[in-house]
Amino acid sequence: MDGIEFLEYAEAHSSPESELLKKISRETHLFVMHPRMLSGHLQGLLLSMLSGMLAPERILEIGTYTGYSAICLAQGLKPGGELITIEHDPELEERATAYFAEAGLASTIRMIIGDGKTVVPRLEGFFDLVFIDADKKDYPGLYLLAMDKTRSGGYILADNVLWGGKILGEAAAADRDTRGIQEFNRMVANDERAENLLLPFHDGLMLIRRK
Ligand SMILES: C[S@@+](CC[C@H](N)C(=O)[O-])C[C@H]1O[C@@H](n2cnc3c(N)ncnc32)[C@H](O)[C@@H]1O
Repeated sequence: MDGIEFLEYAEAHSSPESELLKKISRETHLFVMHPRMLSGHLQGLLLSMLSGMLAPERILEIGTYTGYSAICLAQGLKPGGELITIEHDPELEERATAYFAEAGLASTIRMIIGDGKTVVPRLEGFFDLVFIDADKKDYPGLYLLAMDKTRSGGYILADNVLWGGKILGEAAAADRDTRGIQEFNRMVANDERAENLLLPFHDGLMLIRRK
């Protein structure tokens, strides 16, 4: 069995993707640049399940894209909870907010257009769960900002921390995104405020618990 067959088998033996998530995936592939950025079926289910286990009141996401992961994460919110999602590309706002409305989450998900590096410090209060899925070169800075906004006992998740295997190369020879991920992984592993697991699932998902 090769990797693709394993994935197909895993998808066939996991809860099915909802019709709306299938539609978001299909339309993202048809109409939006870089559709590989979308979380997809298995990762979406994992996010949804982790969120459901934590039952957060407040979730922060940095990197909305077309809203797939935000909809998955919002499934786990406590009743009355909120999810704030930040996206720096204004062209994605109309599509993502239309999907949030279609999911019945228009009043649950607030999308802010702007750069996470400037928006996060201005947000009030603390979050129970933060998902970092933005430009990889920004990960070290976003991690420090996210830590400041995560309550003690809360969690930060970060996607693509294996970066297609490029993290194994020499930092000196790496591009900015790879160096960003390498630096982020090192920071998290050495941060005394954090307990963490680098889960080799998909493209690598970092699970961090703020002590
Ligand atoms: C990998 S995609 C997010 C995918 C989405 N979370 C999902 O799983 O469906 C990354 C998104 O983050 C946005 N982005 C990148 N750097 C950002 C930053 N510093 N602040 C806000 N958005 C950012 C990009 O425009 C892009 O839409």
